[in-house]
Amino acid sequence: MVNLLSQLTHIEIHALDLDETARYYEEQIGLRVVDRTDDKVYLRAWGDYYTYSLVLSRGDEPGMVSMAWRTLSDEALEEAVKRVESAGYAGHWLEPDAHIGRSYVFTGPYGHTMQLFWDAKKYKAPAPFASQYPDRPEKRIGHGLAPRHLDHVTIAASDVQGFANWYSETLGFRRMAFAGFDVEGAEVTFFGVLTTNEKSHDLGILLDSSDTPGRIHHYAWWLETRDELVRAADLLMENGTPIEYGPGIHGIGEQVYLYFREPSGLRIEVNTGGYRNYVPDWEPNRWSPEQGADDFYRNLSLPPSMLEAFPPATKPTATEQGLVAGTEDAIIEAALHSHRPGA
Ligand SMILES: [Fe+2]
Repeated sequence: MVNLLSQLTHIEIHALDLDETARYYEEQIGLRVVDRTDDKVYLRAWGDYYTYSLVLSRGDEPGMVSMAWRTLSDEALEEAVKRVESAGYAGHWLEPDAHIGRSYVFTGPYGHTMQLFWDAKKYKAPAPFASQYPDRPEKRIGHGLAPRHLDHVTIAASDVQGFANWYSETLGFRRMAFAGFDVEGAEVTFFGVLTTNEKSHDLGILLDSSDTPGRIHHYAWWLETRDELVRAADLLMENGTPIEYGPGIHGIGEQVYLYFREPSGLRIEVNTGGYRNYVPDWEPNRWSPEQGADDFYRNLSLPPSMLEAFPPATKPTATEQGLVAGTEDAIIEAALHSHRPGA
């Protein structure tokens, strides 16, 4: 399937306290507010090529409103809409705003909402944020974690392979890797990664045993070096943000990672490194937890809090390491009887 998308451009999430959350992202993460309405705040990392990469939207519980992807062309947008609609998941068009052109919003088979668009304003920061360098949209931010770009989203879905297949066949995501094991002769896939470009993933999928569709597990910002990630860990600790998990290195993708929570309770990752992969007919390998799918050095164990996805639900997700003790039955039951919500 020909890829129709170029990249993840922004994510919209709920903020329980809009002003406090925006301040946290500005001061601690090192993003910059570029627009604001009564119910939303628009922020950007300094290296993001389009105007904003994070939209905070006033809400009652942590969760994702939508993830937005730019297509490869106007024709690709038309083709994507045609495919989504013929797959039975018709959405609606949004009028252009000040920063992006017309966009198409739909909710896919596992309850996640995507916004697709082609026309977009390429960002050029005004003084005093303008860069001296022509290719930079803005000069480097010097405080907080200061990620360069938004990196990826990892969602939770009741069927990892089903999600991967639908998004690959409908929108052209490349299937890069899966992690799983066999249970009584049946394959249980608990994690998978998809990409639109050379990165190992810009969309991750974790197995969800809950009945709540459309959940998100985390989203990630990209730092340029391992040194910056170590500095980020230091800054988080010094400023009172506990690190939930990491720093460590994923086997799949080979990124260095760490995870923490933002003010509404949603999980954020900062990561760096990883390989580049341009192989158009790449065949995804199937990893086992023992091979270090999640943990390259095979010596870390995840805290139980990493089972939580958003909005909160009573049943857990798998983790990138597989199943956490005490949740095996719920997850295996979900995997063996996985289905599309409503199907
Ligand atoms: Fe991640």
